[in-house]
Amino acid sequence: SRIALVGAPVEVGAGHRGAVMGPAALRTAGLLPSLRGLGFEVEDQGDLAPRPLPELQETPQMRFLPEIAGWARVLSDRAYALMNEGVLPIFLGGDHSLSMGSVNGVLRHSREAGRELFVLWLDAHSDFNTPETTPSGNMHGMSAALLCGEPGLDDVFGPEPRERLDPQNLTIFGARSIDREERALLRRRGVEVFDMRLVDEYGVSVLMRRIIDKVAARNGVLHVSLDVDFLEPAIAPGVGTTVPGGATYREAHLIMEMLHDSGLVGSLDVVELNPFLDDRGKSALLLVDLVSSLFGRQIIDRAGALERAS
Ligand code: ARG
Ligand code: MN
Ligand code: MN
Ligand code: MN
Repeated sequence: SRIALVGAPVEVGAGHRGAVMGPAALRTAGLLPSLRGLGFEVEDQGDLAPRPLPELQETPQMRFLPEIAGWARVLSDRAYALMNEGVLPIFLGGDHSLSMGSVNGVLRHSREAGRELFVLWLDAHSDFNTPETTPSGNMHGMSAALLCGEPGLDDVFGPEPRERLDPQNLTIFGARSIDREERALLRRRGVEVFDMRLVDEYGVSVLMRRIIDKVAARNGVLHVSLDVDFLEPAIAPGVGTTVPGGATYREAHLIMEMLHDSGLVGSLDVVELNPFLDDRGKSALLLVDLVSSLFGRQIIDRAGALERAS
């Protein structure tokens, strides 16, 4: 099957500068050869450029709205086009505001194709603020809310096709930093939040099994949105919004391996990598390893290993 790498060097959705270098760092870390080595036909489509939208005006609650909206629109178009071609897109960020566009395009395709979309948001944060609740005005903290159709964010797509993700189809996984009003909104909307407390209590495999079973039972397809700050800062320092107590190396790989085995993943975002804050490419290299696990890299052939053990 075919994979397309799509760079989205947007950084103004975040409070720190530097995510603009994310796509380049993922390429330098060897994402393309690694995926090719797994047997995929991979095309690197280079970086997208935002569509200028001078008619929009930023506000303190929606910082850099014209730029963010410009990115969302080109990203949505590209995601939709690639999905229609049967190509699996990997969006290389860039901050998490890019998912407003990528997931919107994937949603549009899945609605037309009649296959229900589910979104797995691997993140220290829930990114469920709105212009009403945001403490920062940084739009990377609003992308999940926009996708679920929260009001106040209509200018991002303006007259262009905008989809709505059923909040019941969103799972936030790994959260450990949620703002007060954001938490209230998540609860009102019924979003499933598997926070680090649940990860500690049940382990990632029980929780992942639940998500995978839910999607499979509905014959759905899964979009994975991987924020670098999902990971423990010691193993992934290259992100502007580190929060202690993240996923370990082993937990993160197991999630990727289970996702691969499920066969349900149809699209992926890798976001918030900030190479300016990284330590000798450590975070970029880890991300390439994780994406490789998601696309089938194994320690040993599983069927063979089970055979030998019995
Ligand atoms: N909740 C905070 C805010 O709205 C932080 C969001 C961080 N988001 C992220 N994608 N790293 O500003
Ligand atoms: Mn399709
Ligand atoms: Mn995020
Ligand atoms: Mn985050």
